[in-house]
Amino acid sequence: MRRRKFLKAVLAGVLLVAAGIRSRFVAASAKSLFLHGIASGDPTADSVILWTRVSVASSQAVDVNWRIAEDRQMTRIVASGDTRADAAKDFTVKVDAGGLPAGSTLFYQFTAADQRSAVGRTRTLPTGAVDIAKLAVVSCANHPAGFFNVYREIAGRSDLDAVVHLGDYIYEYGLNGYASDNAEALGRIPEPVTELRSLLDYRLRHAQYKRDPDSQAMLASLPLIAVWDDHEIADNAWRKGAEGHQEDDGEWNARRNAAIQAYFEWMPIRGRPRGSRSRIFREFRYGDLASLIMLDTRLYGRDRQPNAGPDVDEESIESALDDPKRRMLGRRQERWLRRRLKNASDTTWQVLGQQVLVTELISANLEPLVDPNGPSSIPKELLQSIIERSKRNTPSVLDAWDGYPLAREDLYADLGRYATNPVVLSGDFHTNLAANLIPKDADQPVAVEFMTGTVSSPVLADVFPEYEPNSVRDATLEQNPSVKYLDTKHRGWLCLTLTKERCSGDWYLIDNILSRDYKSWHAKTLSVRAGEIGKGLQA
Ligand SMILES: [Fe+2]
Repeated sequence: MRRRKFLKAVLAGVLLVAAGIRSRFVAASAKSLFLHGIASGDPTADSVILWTRVSVASSQAVDVNWRIAEDRQMTRIVASGDTRADAAKDFTVKVDAGGLPAGSTLFYQFTAADQRSAVGRTRTLPTGAVDIAKLAVVSCANHPAGFFNVYREIAGRSDLDAVVHLGDYIYEYGLNGYASDNAEALGRIPEPVTELRSLLDYRLRHAQYKRDPDSQAMLASLPLIAVWDDHEIADNAWRKGAEGHQEDDGEWNARRNAAIQAYFEWMPIRGRPRGSRSRIFREFRYGDLASLIMLDTRLYGRDRQPNAGPDVDEESIESALDDPKRRMLGRRQERWLRRRLKNASDTTWQVLGQQVLVTELISANLEPLVDPNGPSSIPKELLQSIIERSKRNTPSVLDAWDGYPLAREDLYADLGRYATNPVVLSGDFHTNLAANLIPKDADQPVAVEFMTGTVSSPVLADVFPEYEPNSVRDATLEQNPSVKYLDTKHRGWLCLTLTKERCSGDWYLIDNILSRDYKSWHAKTLSVRAGEIGKGLQA
């Protein structure tokens, strides 16, 4: 073990893993030019980003043609054009295809060197009066941990408008790092085998994820609306660093900019990387029905987590939690959000797509529930310290909004003031959850939170060896009456359905990721009625 580092904060603590050894790359080789599939993303009412990557043996630029049609046979063409793939962008292709009809299902295809890609399906945003929108919401896809069966499920649906990815689209660890116990057996050894630090590293990792057949099936069937969380860069990132970034990882800015560059190359996101101020917060309008406002709670304006950094003790954590200057979004993004909310007051729903747990989550006393010597995905001494700390019944996930409680109150105030029916999406916590969001001085919710679980990352239940099954879940629910749903055991996805009358969250869970043979089931529905946010989530 070269060093140790603290990982993702979980229900009552953090995971500890070892980093890998530098540095062996696995080169891609195949006959198809379109080895990494095709994708679309960031739809507007008249445009969509089309994405692919051309795998060529030489370093010469390649001409690429793209076409969009109304039919899967690609006969009724509505837009087409030519572009080039070259080494400067790792032979990725990104086209902002405009002039498209609103609210339409469309098909697209690339051609390069006389080879045709598969035909992809996408959708533009609707305008005017819109009755329904249906979004798949996902987060935390860990390739070495197991198969992307959740992506396969989503690819099989024909009733969705888009996939909203809340981040941890890739993980940065090497072999022997987090969640890679089964990597070799599953044929999912991380590429490169080391933790990601350079541009080449991040490109290779994105390339590996894009070669996954289940990921390819999902991306070819729906437009993607994605924001990064921490693992696209490094664990528990904030605007000037990351808990997962140490001195021997090199310069933070260089690493972050490499990660961002690869992200913009490899993801169907509109825009260009712009160093330290790379903006990924943006809005998507579903006519008069909903505004989907995607936020960056990670890199743009987040101050350091209260329990991270040098010389942290209980006193410094307390004073950080009480410091009104500490922000999650940063002042500039907060101002942008307020403008978006004001602007979206003519839509029924204002949906915030953001990364981390919003609701306050008080840790239940784990001592009577958890065996400190039982099998856990974290080291024994860490498990023991989590159990010890849980006796205090305080929030413990300080990488989430619980680490920024005054900024959260400001967010609630903005939602109360400017939004009509605000709904917040979240991920990152490896847990399926729903909660009423209630400001400190109020007794009614100002918004509701729908959290999606993990695609394949380890689930929260793996941390705690319980004396009785589900006892930690039950105690957590009892401790936190505003939490209305909690499943800490299963991977899955959230289907968000918006109509003029209600906003519903449906959780679809799966039973395993170690095989492509799996079961899926509908686990839960919770909804809130338009105009009745104050009544909170209803069964
Ligand atoms: Fe994650």
